[in-house]
Amino acid sequence: MADRPRVFVSRVIPDDGLEAIREVCEMDLWERDLPPPRDELLRRVAGCDGVLTLLTDRVDDEFLDAAGKKLRVVSNYAVGFDNIDVAACARRGIPVGNTPGVLTDTTADLAWALLMAAARRLPEGDRYVRAGNWKTWGPLLLLGPDVHGATIGIVGFGRIGQAVARRAQGFGMEILYHDVQELPRDVTEPFGATFLPLEDLLARSDFVSLHVNLSEVTRHLINAETLSWMKPTAVLVNTSRGPVVDQRALADALRNGVIWAAGLDVTDPEPIPMDDPLVGLDNCLIVPHIASASPATRGKMAAMAAANLLAGVRGEPLPTQVPPPA
Ligand code: DGY
Repeated sequence: MADRPRVFVSRVIPDDGLEAIREVCEMDLWERDLPPPRDELLRRVAGCDGVLTLLTDRVDDEFLDAAGKKLRVVSNYAVGFDNIDVAACARRGIPVGNTPGVLTDTTADLAWALLMAAARRLPEGDRYVRAGNWKTWGPLLLLGPDVHGATIGIVGFGRIGQAVARRAQGFGMEILYHDVQELPRDVTEPFGATFLPLEDLLARSDFVSLHVNLSEVTRHLINAETLSWMKPTAVLVNTSRGPVVDQRALADALRNGVIWAAGLDVTDPEPIPMDDPLVGLDNCLIVPHIASASPATRGKMAAMAAANLLAGVRGEPLPTQVPPPA
């Protein structure tokens, strides 16, 4: 018993992961709905061999100091890892795991749902009906742009961006993409996707969907200036990370008709404060960071995060390790 690795798991995840961890480790599981407060988190990770974190836990030098010298792995229950100082982990020889691949289609489904719902004004329509305002069929009631046949601009053409492109193909859309560089033709040709500089992509797209990692380069990639390049009829969808969009600039753009609507799965901060200007805007649809939230996908993420954690505490290579910075 004494030899079992000690791990801290910072929230209840599906059993697909917890059972495997329980079999092998002495697991300290944070069972409350809200994340552990910082001081509690730092206390709980002290002396652990491994930690399974969520995107709500900041893993930095302070965290790693608190965990101490025994720590052998940080396994993040997410594909994104902007909550983790990967360089700080690398300096201490601690591998970081994430959960790529398994959530690609589920996330693309939600991006598509936001795109459709924001375009066709589903939340507004639902509120209209429930408020008792539906008196008759109206020729001008709740008009919104067609999705089929429109042009979509995908910013970040990785796994999830490509999965969104696949959905766009089904709607007969023209597909534009932007990434740090033009991708090989064998990646883009199946989608008939055309590379464009960001400014041109934003100017030509009826729908813009964001699929970039959060980094110092992508923070506020969508700001007052880049929003001004978009069409006044355009819809912006963000399922990446909240800080990729300058939220004040977005609220101004939505209020002043610079763009037409937005669908957000992520905000800055999360949760979005109820007095944030976006909350009061009818043309802004916001859901609480649920892009990967299907039981099947969350189960696969749990199994993957557990596999990374267990490999790490055994000193084996992680099945899916975040590449340490060069
Ligand atoms: C991720 O995995 O990074 C998502 O934001 C949550 O599933």
